[in-house]
Amino acid sequence: MKGLILSGGKGTRLRPLTYTGAKQLVPVANKPVLFYAIEDLVEAGITDVGVIVGDTADQVMAAVGDGSKFGCNVTYIPQDAPLGIAHAVKIAKPFVGNDRFVLFLGDNFIRDGIVPLVQHFQENDLNSLILLNRVKNPQDFGVAEMDGGKVVRLVEKPREPKSDLAVIGIYMFDHHVFEAVDSIKPSARGELEITETIQYLIDNGYRVGAHLLTGWWIDTGKMEDILEANRLILETLEQRVDGRVDAESRLIGKVVIEQGAEIVNSVVRGPAIIGERTRIVNSYVGPFSSIYMDCLISESEIEHSIVLENCCILDIRERIEDSLIGRNVQINRSPIKPKAYKLMLGDHSRIGIP
Ligand code: TTP
Repeated sequence: MKGLILSGGKGTRLRPLTYTGAKQLVPVANKPVLFYAIEDLVEAGITDVGVIVGDTADQVMAAVGDGSKFGCNVTYIPQDAPLGIAHAVKIAKPFVGNDRFVLFLGDNFIRDGIVPLVQHFQENDLNSLILLNRVKNPQDFGVAEMDGGKVVRLVEKPREPKSDLAVIGIYMFDHHVFEAVDSIKPSARGELEITETIQYLIDNGYRVGAHLLTGWWIDTGKMEDILEANRLILETLEQRVDGRVDAESRLIGKVVIEQGAEIVNSVVRGPAIIGERTRIVNSYVGPFSSIYMDCLISESEIEHSIVLENCCILDIRERIEDSLIGRNVQINRSPIKPKAYKLMLGDHSRIGIP
């Protein structure tokens, strides 16, 4: 069996971060979202992994490499434009060949991995297996309509949903999916849709199974979802201190301090992770915070936030909360009058001021 991870796309909902970076490389608990998908595949014994890449191909390739650090072989498949999930499947045909495969959207997360799901697919003589999750807002998802245990219809963002079963971004197929993606036409938004692909399989008598997830699932397409994923993953970390913590500092609860990191006269209340070579000086880092590598946080307070690499947060006494801060960002108190907010923000930035 093979794996196909989608790591292209536009990422419009995560602007401005996605103007300069791949959304699949945004770190959750200091590890790129995409790495969790690769690890899930490897854990299920899948070591032949294709990765669809778009505009951010260079970054994704630099981060993932040839796959050896994950114990798999990675083949990159460039997609000229984000023409849909089913389009990505179509261009992956030479890579997939006649093998069965797992299609994994590179920004999707599930708690319990895919081992039992792959087993379910392999043991039940299915042409496709889709994963379902109960949601409160089915009108925002592709929704499955069931008849007994059978999927009969998939509807994309229905106005009046007939069920609360959202189809999540992990699917399994055999080679018949290529017949489906060759048969469907682009939708109104100009994309080859995966829901239509699966509907084609159902309508043409192929066996499409469904598996209802019990653990959590998160699509990290938006900031709030990334913060939630961060919260859930941080809770699973084990305490580890590889960096330096001075005598004046206190670590409370589950805290990870990576190698080369330094905590000076500060309090870090877990669950939290402090990345390599990051310095926390005279500061408070509160629960559910992931501070990535090479940052400096000094004379400041931050909680329930993700900070990407190489940021400087200096002398910010009002607590920063619920924030996602991109790479190389500087936040500091202005020494010169007038006393005012002085901002340099990219397009689509968001700031909340009390
Ligand atoms: P989406 O989140 O549906 O789309 P997007 O990444 O363009 O984001 P937005 O809606 O905010 O503009 O895509 C799901 C995953 O599939 C994501 O990891 C990107 C990837 N993808 C591709 O690789 N190629 C594509 O053509 C599309 C549509 C998505």
